[in-house]
Amino acid sequence: MSHGNWYERNMLPWLIDFACGMKSVSRQRMKVIPQAQGRVLEIGLGTGLNLPFYDAGRVQELVGVEPSLTMHHLAMKRSRAAGIPVELVGIGAERLPLADHVFDTVVSTYTLCTIPDPVLALRELRRVLRPGGRLLFSEHGRAPDESVRKWQARIQPVWGKFSGGCHLGRDIPAILKEAGFDAQVESMYIPGPRIASYHYWGEAVAV
Ligand SMILES: C[S@@+](CC[C@H](N)C(=O)[O-])C[C@H]1O[C@@H](n2cnc3c(N)ncnc32)[C@H](O)[C@@H]1O
Repeated sequence: MSHGNWYERNMLPWLIDFACGMKSVSRQRMKVIPQAQGRVLEIGLGTGLNLPFYDAGRVQELVGVEPSLTMHHLAMKRSRAAGIPVELVGIGAERLPLADHVFDTVVSTYTLCTIPDPVLALRELRRVLRPGGRLLFSEHGRAPDESVRKWQARIQPVWGKFSGGCHLGRDIPAILKEAGFDAQVESMYIPGPRIASYHYWGEAVAV
């Protein structure tokens, strides 16, 4: 868990809340989050922007992991407003102090870009997912156009510094595959700057 430096404590949560709260991004959340059911684990819960999109009638329990403690109070506020209680734990997703095969649904939105070792985190998600359980995801990543990919690489050093370690060009389908997930992936540019707007979303099961 981390309180971070001044920028990470005072600026980053609001910046992430603003950027990840845009209408076009909310539309992506709407495509995956309402499908969560049963016992649910969300990694990198951030400021809780998914909380209004959960179907309270389908979610039996929601556990969230979020290493940045300064985001917790915003997330708890949203949890109360949405009427979706969440048990929030201040840790990263690469090593989860959770038993095997206990969750029906695991959720990652816009975290595979930031987690230092996303394959390790996804393998943890496979471990805690019950047989037949589903991973729901929506992520931005590697653009299909070479010209955009060039800009993703050019801007990355500065972008990474100001975004809390976000990578613009991660190959999300390849990462899911490497971690042992069979994913049904949809992809497209959503409205917004092209370097950060190529989206991958869908569901995946462990193989
Ligand atoms: C761009 S934000 C997305 C937040 C949220 N998932 C959303 O959809 O709005 C990336 C999040 O990943 C979190 N994060 C960073 N390292 C992580 C790790 N090792 N494990 C889990 N989450 C991590 C950050 O603190 C941040 O909240």
